[in-house]
Amino acid sequence: MPSLPLPQPDPALCAALAEDLRAARFTGQDVRAAWGEIADDAIARGLRLPAGRALEGRVDALAVLARLLILGMPQPAGLVDAALPRTRAAGLVALNLAEPAGDGIRPLALVRPQPFADESGDGEWWIASDLDEAALGGALPEDHVLGVGGASLTLAGLQLPTPARRGLDVGTGCGIQALRARRNVDAVVATDVSARALAFTRLNALLNVVDGIDVREGSMFEPVEADTFDRIASNPPFVITPRVEGVPAYEYRDGGMVGDDLVAQFVREVGAHLAPGGVAQLLGNWETRAGVDGLERVRDWVAASPVPLDSWVIERETLDPLSYAELWIRDGGTSAGSPGFARLIEAWLEDFAAREVDGVGFGYILLRRPEAGAPTLARYERIAQALGDSPLGAHLAEALAAHDRLTRLDDAGLEASVLLVAPDVSEARHHLPGSEAPSVIELRQGGGFARTIEVDPALAALVGACDGDLAVGPLLGAIAELLEVDAAALRDDLLPRVRELIFTGFLRFA
Ligand SMILES: C[S@@+](CC[C@H](N)C(=O)[O-])C[C@H]1O[C@@H](n2cnc3c(N)ncnc32)[C@H](O)[C@@H]1O
Repeated sequence: MPSLPLPQPDPALCAALAEDLRAARFTGQDVRAAWGEIADDAIARGLRLPAGRALEGRVDALAVLARLLILGMPQPAGLVDAALPRTRAAGLVALNLAEPAGDGIRPLALVRPQPFADESGDGEWWIASDLDEAALGGALPEDHVLGVGGASLTLAGLQLPTPARRGLDVGTGCGIQALRARRNVDAVVATDVSARALAFTRLNALLNVVDGIDVREGSMFEPVEADTFDRIASNPPFVITPRVEGVPAYEYRDGGMVGDDLVAQFVREVGAHLAPGGVAQLLGNWETRAGVDGLERVRDWVAASPVPLDSWVIERETLDPLSYAELWIRDGGTSAGSPGFARLIEAWLEDFAAREVDGVGFGYILLRRPEAGAPTLARYERIAQALGDSPLGAHLAEALAAHDRLTRLDDAGLEASVLLVAPDVSEARHHLPGSEAPSVIELRQGGGFARTIEVDPALAALVGACDGDLAVGPLLGAIAELLEVDAAALRDDLLPRVRELIFTGFLRFA
C-alpha cells in the first residue's frame, strides 16, 4: 500500500477545525448519545456497522462528522462544507486529513473526541490518528499511527499529577502522553521514529490549543542527547515479535529488537536522562526465561543502570507464550482460521522456545533518580485485581511521598505520629457459622490499587483507632493491654506493617 501523505499541522486550519468541531458539539458524550451505547461499544471491537446504521439518513453536522471522522466513511462534499463552515472540505484536504473522491470527501485519518479527567479537572481532546482496521476494512499498514487505546489511557492515568518543569514522551504516536503531561509539566519533548506520528502530535497539539510540546524525530533517547527531565513517560513499542521473514513489524508496537530487549534497554538508559528527583514511568512486557522470573529480570535491568534508581514495578498480568502470540496476531488484524494465522503462531512459539520463554509479564515500571544518596525504594509486586475507575497517578504520587517520609522516620518517630484511616478503606469480618470471633478480618481499599489485605485483631484494632486523635505509640500500648500481650513484642510486630499500610494508602499521616 502506498504511504499516505503526512498530516499538515497548519495553525490557522487547525484553529478553524477546532472551532467547527466545538460548534457541532463533536464530543464523546454527544456522539455516544447519537448512535447509542451498544453501537459505541461495538466500534471499540472494530465493528462500525451498527453506528453507521444508527445515523442513517441524518445530515446534521454531528452525524456527518461522526461518520467521516470516527467511522472513516466518505461523505458528500456539500455536507462536509455545511458541517465544517470555517474549515470546509477543502481545509480537511489541505490538512491531509481527507482527500477528494468523486463528489465526496474520503477521510485519510480519524479525529476522535477523547475525554480525560485528572486532578486539575475534566476535559476532552480531539485526537487525530490513522484510519483504524474498521475504517480500512483490513489489516493495518506497518507505519500505522495508533489512536488512543487501552494502554495509552492506562499510562496517561498513571502519570504523576504533581507539577514539574521538563518532561519527555518517548514514542509519542498521536501525542496523547505529551498532552497529558502538559497538564502538569511546563515543557514537554515528544519523540518518535515516525515522522507521521510527529505530524499527528503537532496537529493534535494545535487542535487542542496546547503549546510547549517540542517534537523531535529519532530512536529512543537519541533525539534528547544528554538532556535530563523531571518526568519521562513512555508507552514504548514493547510487543515481542519474532524476527523472521513474513512476520509484520508494526512500527506502532514493535521496536525491532529481540524478545524484551527494547524494554531492558529503556530501563538501563533512562536514568541518565532523569534530573535528580525525576521520575520515569513506562509500560512494558518482560519474559520469564529459562526459569528466571520476569520480575527478577526487570530487577536486574534496573541494577544495570549506571545511575542508581528507586524502582517500583507492578506486574498486572502474565500470559503463556501461546496466549501472547494469539493476542498480538489478532491485534495485527489476522484472525484465527484466516490464512497465515497458523504460520504466525508457529513463528511466535519458535521465537519464544529459542529463549526458553514460558511466560510474558505485562505491567507498569516507575523509576526515580534519588535527589541525593542511594536508592531507598525497590518494590517488585504482582497486582492482578481489577482497579477502581480513578486515575492511579495521584495514588502513586502519594505513595512516593509517604515512602520518603517513612524513610526519614525511625520507629520512635512513627510511634509519635498521629495517623488517619483513609476514607476509602472498609473492613470485612468473616465468621465461621455460630462463632463470635472472626476467623478472617480483611481491610479493603476502594481507590488506588484496590488492595485487600488480611489483618489480625491487633492490627485491625490499631487501624480502627486511627482517627487523628492519639499517636501510634499510645494506641499500641492500649491495644497490648486490651489483648493482654507483651507491648514490646506487639510494637515490633505491628510497626513494619503500619509502614506498609501507610505506603499502600490504607493509613495517612494526620
Ligand atoms: C505503543 S505506541 C505508543 C503511542 C502513544 N505514546 C500512546 O501512548 O498511545 C509506540 C510508539 O513508539 C514509536 N516507536 C517505535 N520504535 C521506536 C523507537 N525505536 N524509538 C522511539 N519511538 C519508537 C512508534 O512509532 C509508536 O508511535
